[in-house]
Amino acid sequence: DDTKAGVKGLVDSGITKVPQIFILPPKNRQEKCETNFTFPVIDLQGIDEDPIKHKEITWGFFQVVNHGIPTSVLHKTLQGTSQFFEQDNEVKKQYYTRDTGKKVIYTSNLDLYSPSVPGVSWKDAFFCFMSSNPPSPQEFPTLCWEILMDYSKDVRKLGFSLLELLSEGLGLDRSYLKDYMDCFQLRYSCNYYPLCPQPELTMGTIQHTDVDFVTVLLQDDFGGLQVLHQNHWVDVPPTPGALVVNLGDFLQLLSNGKYISAEHRAISNSDGSRMSVACFFSESHAQSSKLYGPITELLSEDNPPKYRATKVKDHSNYILTRGVDGTSALSRYK
Ligand code: SIN
Ligand code: FE2
Repeated sequence: DDTKAGVKGLVDSGITKVPQIFILPPKNRQEKCETNFTFPVIDLQGIDEDPIKHKEITWGFFQVVNHGIPTSVLHKTLQGTSQFFEQDNEVKKQYYTRDTGKKVIYTSNLDLYSPSVPGVSWKDAFFCFMSSNPPSPQEFPTLCWEILMDYSKDVRKLGFSLLELLSEGLGLDRSYLKDYMDCFQLRYSCNYYPLCPQPELTMGTIQHTDVDFVTVLLQDDFGGLQVLHQNHWVDVPPTPGALVVNLGDFLQLLSNGKYISAEHRAISNSDGSRMSVACFFSESHAQSSKLYGPITELLSEDNPPKYRATKVKDHSNYILTRGVDGTSALSRYK
């Protein structure tokens, strides 16, 4: 029952030292980030007239503004999801599960039993599969069902525009990636990072790459997300009204390495709780049996395939059993 109260439950109980399972080896802990890199912001308005902007995509990580989703929707989404974590434990624990096959999952310490994980993330999370078959209000925490349904309509539209932009960035037809996808799936991961009494020993989300095609991340104004760019950790500054976009493993694979599935992490802090809502665009693991590898049109004598093809299911299962251990999993397809 204690586990079901999550990391938030630990903090609420008044601990001043973090339990051993959360303490990471020094190499996985945070260090100061001092770089001259400025995190790219792409204005989606008028992007078609300004192909130069496509260039910044190759970071694999950028923020978008003028993305078409009203600030009020973003605000409501963050508010609704944090209310879920802040509600009474008796209510919240009904949704607690470690069964990753469920449609709605509230959980904590999910990485506890993964063999190669350096330590447990200092966060609570709830995951939800939104399409093609979204959960009913009965299956979903009632507090934020409507809010997340609304947001998913908007974010889905944005995701498809991003796929168009990304297709063009590869010199392909605008609809290429959209048409290439087999059984489109949208999944939420809502992350709640309670304040941590010893943030220098822990990590909110351990260094990883995303396993999907594209991720759209909504973060509050707290800050803590960092991306590894040219071997430097760069802060992703919270920008009111903006959304963070990052490319996942499958886009690195399909683009034959032109796009990067950048490593990123979320640091913990001792000042207050932080909330983020990640929206993953991917293929349905269960339904798609297609093999994904470098897009044939992009290959040539000068650009031979860097990776072998894999199924979405196999790649995802590999990550699920291995756990998030701070390394990219793509090298196994080299
Ligand atoms: C994640 O990448 O899984 C979470 C990032 C964040 O919370 O900012
Ligand atoms: Fe991520």
